[in-house]
Amino acid sequence: MKKVIIIGATSGIGKELALRYLKAGHTVGITGRRKELLQELQQQYPQQVFIECFDVTGTNNTTHLNALIQQMGGMDVFVYNSGMGDISKELNAGLEISTTQTNVNGFVELTVHAFNYFVTQGHGHIAATSSVASTRGNSWAPSYSASKAYMSTYMEGLAMKAERMKLTIAVTDIQPGFVKTKMAKGEGLFWVAELDKAVDQIFHALEKRKRKVYVTKRWALVAWMMKQMPYTFYKKMG
Ligand SMILES: NC(=O)c1ccc[n+]([C@@H]2O[C@H](COP(=O)([O-])OP(=O)(O)OC[C@H]3O[C@@H](n4cnc5c(N)ncnc54)[C@H](OP(=O)(O)O)[C@@H]3O)[C@@H](O)[C@H]2O)c1
Repeated sequence: MKKVIIIGATSGIGKELALRYLKAGHTVGITGRRKELLQELQQQYPQQVFIECFDVTGTNNTTHLNALIQQMGGMDVFVYNSGMGDISKELNAGLEISTTQTNVNGFVELTVHAFNYFVTQGHGHIAATSSVASTRGNSWAPSYSASKAYMSTYMEGLAMKAERMKLTIAVTDIQPGFVKTKMAKGEGLFWVAELDKAVDQIFHALEKRKRKVYVTKRWALVAWMMKQMPYTFYKKMG
């Protein structure tokens, strides 16, 4: 049985993913700012769930991660799922900066710590929930798309580093399109996946230690088309 830590598992994709691992009998460490939601899941699975309540934009991220690893007696899988993003119609400095602090600063601090933990251990699995939004810039949420591009590019670098170091550390970049959670906002959303279906696909990709997964699968086509599109056309959409 694996010891899985999910950063940002109080709701949406993170919580549903925690439930998948719990139902499969694994031990799961969950985090987030909403303590009552962490405790709720722990009460449902008291033998399997460990919690650590913290804000990833704070200053003690690695202390919290170490505390969770210690409570669980180790870590085999690390998933960085915490994320925020909102429409920044008038470029809103507060929103742009807090999105970066959550999706970039918190991500890099915790992911580096987890990777180095796995280097010492000799094996492990790192995953992060990026987004198809990572593919190109976006005028409505510039910080969100840029922060997700950072995550995906960083994860590719880590995967290459693990191979170069001949380590059995898998790295999975999870790229959802739209998934029915409170984060899927705005008009003109399409192909919005049910949470259940999206998390099934994420769970199976993680079990296979895939390098990258689009969720749902057909979003791979959208990502491919976005990458090919010349700026002259793309600017009318994004
Ligand atoms: N839903 C979509 O359409 C979609 C598409 C592409 C990518 N994603 C990505 O999927 C991930 C999960 O999002 P979701 O859709 O499941 O939305 P969600 O229900 O809002 O989940 C966001 C999670 O991130 C945590 N979080 C946010 N800010 C945090 C902070 N400062 N410190 C610690 N934890 C924080 C939240 O916990 P607390 O609030 O308790 O702190 C929550 O557990 C995000 O990274 C998002 O960018 C979602």
